[in-house]
Amino acid sequence: MAKYVINGKNRLEGAVTISGAKNAAVAILPAALLVSGKCRVENVPDISDVHILLEILKDIGAEVSWEDNGTVILDCTGVTGTKPDPELVCKMRASYYLMGALLSRFHKAHVALPGGCNFASRPIDQHIKGFRALGARVVETEEYVNMKPGPNGLKGARITLDVVSVGATMNIIMAACLLPGKTVIENAAKEPHIVDLANFLNTMGAHISGAGTDTVKITGVEKLTGGTYAIIPDQIEAGTYIAAVAAAGGNVLVQNVIPKHMDCITSKLEEMGVEFINYDDAIQVISEGQLQPTTVKTRPYPGFPTDMQAQVCVCMSIADGTSRLTESVYETRFFGYCTELASMGADILINGKTAIITGQSNLQGAVVRANDLRAGAALIIAGLAAEGTTEVENIHYIERGYEHLVEKLTALGADIRRVED
Ligand code: EPZ
Repeated sequence: MAKYVINGKNRLEGAVTISGAKNAAVAILPAALLVSGKCRVENVPDISDVHILLEILKDIGAEVSWEDNGTVILDCTGVTGTKPDPELVCKMRASYYLMGALLSRFHKAHVALPGGCNFASRPIDQHIKGFRALGARVVETEEYVNMKPGPNGLKGARITLDVVSVGATMNIIMAACLLPGKTVIENAAKEPHIVDLANFLNTMGAHISGAGTDTVKITGVEKLTGGTYAIIPDQIEAGTYIAAVAAAGGNVLVQNVIPKHMDCITSKLEEMGVEFINYDDAIQVISEGQLQPTTVKTRPYPGFPTDMQAQVCVCMSIADGTSRLTESVYETRFFGYCTELASMGADILINGKTAIITGQSNLQGAVVRANDLRAGAALIIAGLAAEGTTEVENIHYIERGYEHLVEKLTALGADIRRVED
């Protein structure tokens, strides 16, 4: 197993370029199943979740090729398989998007339940609710979801989600695209990657409106044709580097961002004393590493993202005072990293959905383990800010979602290396 070895206390200086958004890419690539013809998808991040998805698509008959600089050419015209390889499907969370895409294209699907980061119970009942509303006969077992048309066939419907769910919103959008009639999704999630999926599908000829609001409307079309689309920058990767500069101190230009997507993150770090200069597609981040405490409540977009909870907790761990961090999306997310942070000297008291963090002047390096993607990223930030050496194990979680992490941090002056055990 590989690990990262970090010697802390180096200031971060220079510029980092943000990659394409993981959570957009893992939806847009399966969505290519809806397209008859070649899709040229640019700014695809070179991360293991993407590679697994492309393996799955190739296995059911898609033609897949990488050009240089992150462009993937996908042609799913010849796809016939509707039972993706369960060994691959259960390696990641976003494989559930195959359900909606296969249902829309083939009117049937047999997909194993997803795997991925298990920091919380992550049901897919809202996805299933959507598929059933569209007329699918859905059989669920402990291992898989099987779908085919119900007695009245598949057609558009009105669906009100019981919870604001990114995955369910995107899965239902995909499922409805090629079905006859109109679909309306109420209480939809509004994340930037949902807008990105809708823009990709509309580029290929879909009729989707309202993405980014809580009401998304899809009018089914006969066919989608090929085209070219570039994935948006990754809001959470950018937030992770911003939190690293905040905690370790430094002056870094974070390039290839959409500032509007960053507001929910930068506004909170500004309260903690970090200085920002916004440009059209970049943000200058300046921090002396002395941070003020604050209060954060994670919320669906445009609130403070749950995927930045662990990273901001590290910043709070070294702030000059006591902070409060409340999680409203996944209650058990704290347990993915707080014990590890405590072994580095952090003082975190978890009380249900809220953690009280009493800032310490210094974290100490330690041997810690990543338990999920963002928990692992937070431990790297802690290692960059800590005295001494930190070893982060279980880094396969981290490499699911961060492209060229060691190269990017090393270029900023961090002392980090990847070591194979
Ligand atoms: C997506 O997960 C992201 N993953 C997660 O990012 C992110 O944390 C999450 O959205 C929230 O923003 C991908 O996009 C691949 P949800 P998803 O459905 O779609 C409940 C990362 O670090 N819920 O929006 O699974 C659920 O339990 C990952 O990149 C149901 O009850 O999240 C949660 O409490 C981690 N029933 C809430 O809704 C359902 O059918 C939000 O979940 C679906 C969800």
